[in-house]
Amino acid sequence: MERLHLAGAGAVTTKTIRLIDCINPKPHMFLNSRDSLVNCEKWTDLSADQWIKTEIPRAVRGGVVVIASIGHTLPESSRLAEPVAASGAAMIELVSYDEADLIPMVTDIRRRVKCPVLVKLSPNGKRFLETAQRCVAAGADAITACDSLGPVLRIDIRTGRPALAGANGTGWLSGRAIKPVILQRVAELRNSLTCPIIGLGGVMEAADAIEMAMAGATFVGLCTALILRGPEYLSKLRSDTEKMLDELGYANFASVSGVALQYLRQPEQTSPLKFAYVASKCIHCGQCVKTCCYQARSLSTDGTMDVDIEKCHYCGLCVDVCPTRALTFCKEDPEHV
Ligand SMILES: Cc1cc2nc3c(=O)[nH]c(=O)nc-3n(C[C@H](O)[C@H](O)[C@H](O)COP(=O)(O)O)c2cc1C
Ligand code: SF4
Ligand code: SF4
Repeated sequence: MERLHLAGAGAVTTKTIRLIDCINPKPHMFLNSRDSLVNCEKWTDLSADQWIKTEIPRAVRGGVVVIASIGHTLPESSRLAEPVAASGAAMIELVSYDEADLIPMVTDIRRRVKCPVLVKLSPNGKRFLETAQRCVAAGADAITACDSLGPVLRIDIRTGRPALAGANGTGWLSGRAIKPVILQRVAELRNSLTCPIIGLGGVMEAADAIEMAMAGATFVGLCTALILRGPEYLSKLRSDTEKMLDELGYANFASVSGVALQYLRQPEQTSPLKFAYVASKCIHCGQCVKTCCYQARSLSTDGTMDVDIEKCHYCGLCVDVCPTRALTFCKEDPEHV
């Protein structure tokens, strides 16, 4: 926690503290792809006593703003909230996978402690927004969106066995792979809630953090990025984010929050798009041609780019795969290539 604090974390959340002993399956983490994990790690394997008497006070002495994650049931959070607050935690985050537990937990903990109470939501729930609204009505000060996605499965093809050793071999997906799900969840929350939202899920780089803010996050959280790249990566991500905000013309992180929401309310767009092509930026990789399902795009041997507008369905993929931004959509310039 202190390494994260020194790397620039505004706050650091503990592993979820429970009153039940934790023995993790072995192995319980698997690299799903370069920037994402599947895991079946449970809550903390340290005792509640150790967190309350040792870990939280030590982190607080080291200057860390500690968010104590507690759960997963009402009897547990009722017994843990006051001791973790007294140990120096600046905020409490409630975690439960059962809404029947979660709402009473918020009501109860709100009465027990004075510090801000956050609720961490799973992205998997069918009544996601309704749960968030009920948590806020019950006294939650902020929502953390979200926990990891799943259940998911990976199989080791050399053995035919699940890659994770948990029950049924299943686990939970995190990192880059879940970012689009979390962005949608954050935007959904921001459209109906005014409280702070911590966007957590798939933030690996500066662009991800800015995208999360644009969807409506007030703050951004990271887990997988710091597991895979180490706590010190946070300081690079912070400075990259500042540089990128500057390049994009934003004064600071707060000014980006929710900028995309106005466009999420617009009706479906069906008019054809206009392409712009800058020959000097084109490296003739052919990616745009290869990816066109309609064989609308061609690159001749002399390097001339062409698009057959009769065949083009304006799916947008050729623009997105172009590695140099030689090919873009241009709203102002009606040049077709
Ligand atoms: C190995 C691992 C352990 C996790 N343990 C917890 C936990 O104890 N409590 C919790 O609320 N979330 C836990 N999470 C979920 C993360 O806090 C986070 O919500 C999720 O991974 C999405 O963020 P990310 O894509 O930045 O990793 C864990 C995630 C991973 C990968
Ligand atoms: S927009 Fe889609 S259909 Fe049109 S040229 Fe590009 S990839 Fe092909
Ligand atoms: S993907 Fe971009 S760089 Fe590659 S050939 Fe097409 S326009 Fe040129």
